[in-house]
Amino acid sequence: MDDLQHLLAIDDLGSDFRTVIDWAIRFKKEYTNDFSDFKPLDEMSIGCIYEKPSTRTRVSFEVGIHKLGGQPLTLLKNDIQMGKSETISDTGAVLSRFLDGITYRCFGHEMVAELAESSSVPVINALSAKHHPCQAAADLMTIVERNPSLEGEKVAWVGDGNNVLHDLILACAMLGIDCIWAVPSGYEPDADVVARARKIAAETGASMTKTHDPKKACKNASIIYTDVFISMGEEHLEDKISAFNGFQVNEDLVTNARDDYGFMHCLPAHRGDEVTDGVIDSENSIVFDQAENRMWAQMAILTYLCNPAAFQAFLDLY
Ligand code: CP
Ligand code: NVA
Repeated sequence: MDDLQHLLAIDDLGSDFRTVIDWAIRFKKEYTNDFSDFKPLDEMSIGCIYEKPSTRTRVSFEVGIHKLGGQPLTLLKNDIQMGKSETISDTGAVLSRFLDGITYRCFGHEMVAELAESSSVPVINALSAKHHPCQAAADLMTIVERNPSLEGEKVAWVGDGNNVLHDLILACAMLGIDCIWAVPSGYEPDADVVARARKIAAETGASMTKTHDPKKACKNASIIYTDVFISMGEEHLEDKISAFNGFQVNEDLVTNARDDYGFMHCLPAHRGDEVTDGVIDSENSIVFDQAENRMWAQMAILTYLCNPAAFQAFLDLY
C-alpha cells in the first residue's frame, strides 16, 4: 500500500484504487455479519466542512464515520470563522490539533489544496469545482459490484465536462475501462485532467474518447452517466443550459446502449433537464445503489487514510 496523506482527486489513490474498492465491497458484505464491531476510527474525530449544500455526502460521511467508531463533526460555512475572519491555512493548522481527519466541500479546487497543505491530518475532497473523488470511488465500486472482471465495460458520459466527469474519466483510466464522453462544444473537461487520464490509460489499456455526439457515445455502452448541466457555484450561468439541447438522456437515446446498460447519475438529478423520469426510474437505473455506495466507499477511504494498519488487517483477513 502506498503512504497517501490526502485525497484531493481520485488519481491520488494510484495503484491502491482497486484495493480500496474491493475493500469497500467486502466490508459492505461483511458488515451485516461479524464486522459491525470493527471500529478503525475508535477515539477519532473527523471534521466535515461544507461551503455548499449536500445531502448524500454529508449524511454518508456522518453515518459512515459513526459506524467506524469515530465522531463526525459537521462544520457549515456560516458557523465557522474560515473565509470570514480566518484563512484556510490557519484553519487547517488549528483543526489538525483537534481532529484526526478533515473532509472539505468547497468552490475552487485550490481551496481544498490549501487546506491539505496546512493540515497535518488527512484531508479528503468532498467535492470541489474540479474534482469529486468520493463520487468516483462510489461509482466505480458500483460498476465493479455489477461486473467484478470489468470485461466488456464501456462507460458513456453525456452532459457537461464537469467535476464528476473529471474523476470518472480518471477512475475509468485507472481501472482499464473504456470511457467516452459526449459534451457540447465549449464544455469539454479540463485539458490537464484529460492528459492525466490519457497517461494512465496508456498503461492500463483503456480507451479515452471525446465526442460531441451523444448517440455515438451511447452506442453499445454498458453504462450511461449524466449529471446536472449547471453545477453548484454556476447558478449565475443559467443561459449555459441552451448549449445542452440534444444532450438529455431520454428513452430514445438509451436505445443505442446495450439492453442491460446501467443508468448512473451522481444525484441530485434535475428531472426533465439532463434525464427523463422514464430513464431514471427505469429498471436499468442504478442511481440509488450509487448513492448507498458513497457511504461504503468513504468508509474504505477513511480507514485507508486515517488507520492504514486497520485497513491492512481487514485485507489480510480476506
Ligand atoms: N452526489 C453528491 O455529492 O450529492 P450531495 O451534493 O447531496 O452531497
Ligand atoms: N456537478 C455537480 C455535482 C453535484 C454532486 C456540482 O458540482 O454541483
